Amino acid sequence: MDCKDLDALEQEAKRVMRPESWAFCDTGADDEITAAENIQAWHKLKLRPRVLRDIVEVDAGTTLLGTRVRTPIMIAPTGRHHLFHKDAERETARGAAAAGALYVMSTSGTTTVEQVAAESAGMPQWFQLYMQPDRDATGALLDRCEAAGFRALVLTVDQPVPGWSPRAARQPVLPSPDIRSVNMVGQPIARTAYDATRKGVVMFPTNFGDLEWLSKRTKMPVVVKGVLRADDALRCVDCGAKGVMVSNHGGRHLDTTVTTAEVIAEIAASVGSAAEVYVDGGIRRGTDIVKALALGARAVLVGRPPLWGLSVAGASGVQAVMEHLHDEMLRAMRLCGAASLAALTPDLVKQ
Ligand SMILES: Cc1cc2nc3c(=O)[nH]c(=O)nc-3n(C[C@H](O)[C@H](O)[C@H](O)COP(=O)(O)O)c2cc1C
Repeated sequence: MDCKDLDALEQEAKRVMRPESWAFCDTGADDEITAAENIQAWHKLKLRPRVLRDIVEVDAGTTLLGTRVRTPIMIAPTGRHHLFHKDAERETARGAAAAGALYVMSTSGTTTVEQVAAESAGMPQWFQLYMQPDRDATGALLDRCEAAGFRALVLTVDQPVPGWSPRAARQPVLPSPDIRSVNMVGQPIARTAYDATRKGVVMFPTNFGDLEWLSKRTKMPVVVKGVLRADDALRCVDCGAKGVMVSNHGGRHLDTTVTTAEVIAEIAASVGSAAEVYVDGGIRRGTDIVKALALGARAVLVGRPPLWGLSVAGASGVQAVMEHLHDEMLRAMRLCGAASLAALTPDLVKQ
């Protein structure tokens, strides 16, 4: 496995994945404009490094909702890992734990929350929820997550209806009765968001009232994922959210949104210390991470890259991706004259 940079790994993943798995992993919605622009937007931001600083010792440790972690790089929630490895989400959790990275498991996983929790090796894990209309069933799942040891709940709100990907529709993942969304109500057969039967279906019609209910119903702190506006971020905090993930879902549902690199500074400044703010979308380099943290994110998440590692080399591939990004981040911090995350301040980035 070549992990000298993520471009080589991406090409290797494309070779080993089945074509329909690759299309599902790689695609964005519609014209795939946002998926591409997410990556370019980090490149457009330019660094203004400091020189002559003491950077021999560098510490990238932080806390995420009160839990100590060695790195501010998390694994974003992504569904259906059986498409990428036979041990699916269990294998991802093993790789995350080996790298010391926080893993956010998706509701759309094909592995139970208890099986994933069993692989945590003491590392914190969060659970991503697509809230289903049946509150009793949602509540029962929350109880299972708490009992299994998940430390936070990530409510995804940017996919009330699935987006549409012509590319994924031309190479569809065929549903199999053996492969089920085992944590969802009724354990339905796992279908991708781009499955033709889901076109236009209002799957997850969550609103601010649901967020208030959820914040009270669970002991886990709630993070809202999929926010692109400061006014929405502040309203989420008012409704009980302890964290906000600035995300456009990797450009997979609504195309031509703003990129996350363009709005992270504004949202982080508006939220201030009222909640933790994280960001994902197109992060592929240590320099991207340094820019995101300098602009106010407490941590970043990566979605597609761990899936490339998973498909090429299982848990050790996931581990290699996360360690590679961590190393690149440390190098970029040193080259910017920043020995700690506190030294990553907005003046490092020319916008
Ligand atoms: C294959 C795939 C499946 C995804 N599934 C989910 C999901 O189940 N829940 C969710 O909140 N986000 C999901 N996402 C979005 C990611 O959490 C994340 O926002 C996005 O991938 C970040 O962009 P990046 O891939 O450019 O790093 C998925 C992304 C991909 C690529």
